[in-house]
Amino acid sequence: MPHLSRRAFLKSSVIGASCAAGAGLGVRWPQAFAGPAPIELKPRPTDARIFGEIPTKNVFTYGEAPGAMPPVLRLKRGDPFAARLVNQLDEPTTIHWHGLRIANKMDGVPFLTQPNVSPGRSFDYAFTPPDAGTFWYHPHCNTLEQMGHGLAGVMVVEDPADPVFDAEIVLNLRDWRLGGNGQFISQFKPREAARSGTFGTVRTANWQVEPIYDAPSGGVVRLRIAVTDVTRILQLKLEGAEAEVLAIDAQPLPQRVPLDLLILSPGQRADIAIRMPAEEGRGVTLTDHRPSTPATVATLRSVGPSLNHALGDVGPLAPNPQPEFDLSSATEIPLLLSATAEQAAKNSICGSLGYSFWAINKVPWPGDTADPLAPIEELKLGQSYVLTMKNVTPHAHPIHLHGMNFTVLRSTREDAPKLTSDTYLIFPDETVQLGLVADNPGDWVFHCHIIEHQKTGMTGYFRVA
Ligand code: C2O
Ligand code: CU
Repeated sequence: MPHLSRRAFLKSSVIGASCAAGAGLGVRWPQAFAGPAPIELKPRPTDARIFGEIPTKNVFTYGEAPGAMPPVLRLKRGDPFAARLVNQLDEPTTIHWHGLRIANKMDGVPFLTQPNVSPGRSFDYAFTPPDAGTFWYHPHCNTLEQMGHGLAGVMVVEDPADPVFDAEIVLNLRDWRLGGNGQFISQFKPREAARSGTFGTVRTANWQVEPIYDAPSGGVVRLRIAVTDVTRILQLKLEGAEAEVLAIDAQPLPQRVPLDLLILSPGQRADIAIRMPAEEGRGVTLTDHRPSTPATVATLRSVGPSLNHALGDVGPLAPNPQPEFDLSSATEIPLLLSATAEQAAKNSICGSLGYSFWAINKVPWPGDTADPLAPIEELKLGQSYVLTMKNVTPHAHPIHLHGMNFTVLRSTREDAPKLTSDTYLIFPDETVQLGLVADNPGDWVFHCHIIEHQKTGMTGYFRVA
């Protein structure tokens, strides 16, 4: 046999398999001729078994089967994607495609980018994902309630140049606010919203408590993690196997790092390579170490004869294209994250929580309305900016920007990761500088992804024109 690396071999066999599957068609319609048929996403209530014997009522899903979690959507970088949102809830909703750098009118933010979608109505989303990696999708209307009840799904954008793994496992990590009888309790407590947020009572991975997944012994698994919880910042560790972090928030790290302790906040994703133990039946456990006692998140169990692969057998992820940041011409924008004097907030059609506790540059966002506040700042299309963000609150905030990525330039926190990302977890007393190229026109929201913070003032937007 001529020299053929395992990867090249696997790759060619995978390509062979997909060709064979599509061979019957024989025709490849030009994409430009007509867009793809939209998939349908129908948010609706269902009963689902989350824990114990009694099904939880009034769980919300986009899934087809009763009680099934929102599907993992699989897209290809550069291939058009279309989804029809058909609202089967009895309240308005939208879908936001978290982390995807797409056109503003597809961003799913009521009033700012589209009208909200009333019960019984539909809205067509269509875009071509420019980046590969792990993303997710969720509503942007009455978000605490709708996400809290289940509406959050993982989205995988594949790249034809992705390295081939022996297996891939996707984990949608979230908690639920359920009482002892397995039914929903109130989604939040105002006094917690004014602190680190109201935590769930039941932790799940893929809507299951401590699920166990089989993975090939001695194989290299790609674990895609999305933290879709509305509150909890995770401190993840993996016990029982060697592992490396490949990407954070869909962006491949310039150099993979051994997985030690991984802090992942609401909105964030991580791609991890795990080398399963060679011995059959061995367990690899993902645990969360916050606040103190470790909790099991999920377990992988090695099955079958060992494949004898090593982490180094899997090649690097292809980087996503990033705009060229120019520090010398960059304009600085100060952003102050602070608490605000408690005040009652008006209700809005997409659900304010009735309070404001937080502010960006001293302005608390009043809720989503047809008449939004002015933008935090107007940015010039194509210009570079340095966002100097200061957190003067005693809590950490995962701050998320829609439609564009930023790069961490420097921070007062020495171990702050220098990532390119759409979400940055800023710690108490931290000041961070984020480099941003305003390369996507439109109104882009910027908010804390602890949803109670987002909905009680810690929201704003940038206008790029
Ligand atoms: Cu994932 Cu504006 O949110
Ligand atoms: Cu926050």
